[in-house]
Amino acid sequence: MPASEAGSLIDAARRAREKAHAAFSGFKVGAALETKDGAIITGSNVENASYGLTMCAERVAMFKALSEGHNAFVRIAIVANTESPTPPCGACRQILWEFGGDLEIILANLFEQKGTYQLKDLLPLPFDARLL
Ligand code: THU
Repeated sequence: MPASEAGSLIDAARRAREKAHAAFSGFKVGAALETKDGAIITGSNVENASYGLTMCAERVAMFKALSEGHNAFVRIAIVANTESPTPPCGACRQILWEFGGDLEIILANLFEQKGTYQLKDLLPLPFDARLL
């Protein structure tokens, strides 16, 4: 998707980021997931005192979307307040792949879009239900 058209999805991710619960790392992330029918479902990272139960913004967005009945997705924007873009972690790549397929991944910070990728390139040789 051209940078100019990704603007509203990135803006939604920036707004979601403001709701992050990142008291332990201070690293706030926002994500905005676009469905095939054009709905936008957002998520932010949620940390807690035991640290290990932290949930990334991308998985919050995907789990929210699935639990609301969405099941077809085209792209996700991910925003952090850093010069280098924040790509999805390994756990998020797996979940995004299993439920979203070869999503377009748009990385941005608070000021600009930093890059666009296809999930299949970020998660080569994936394990998924086709192999069970
Ligand atoms: N985090 C995300 O929400 N998404 C990413 O893509 C990378 C990391 C969160 C997890 C944790 O709350 C904080 O960022 C620092 O790792």
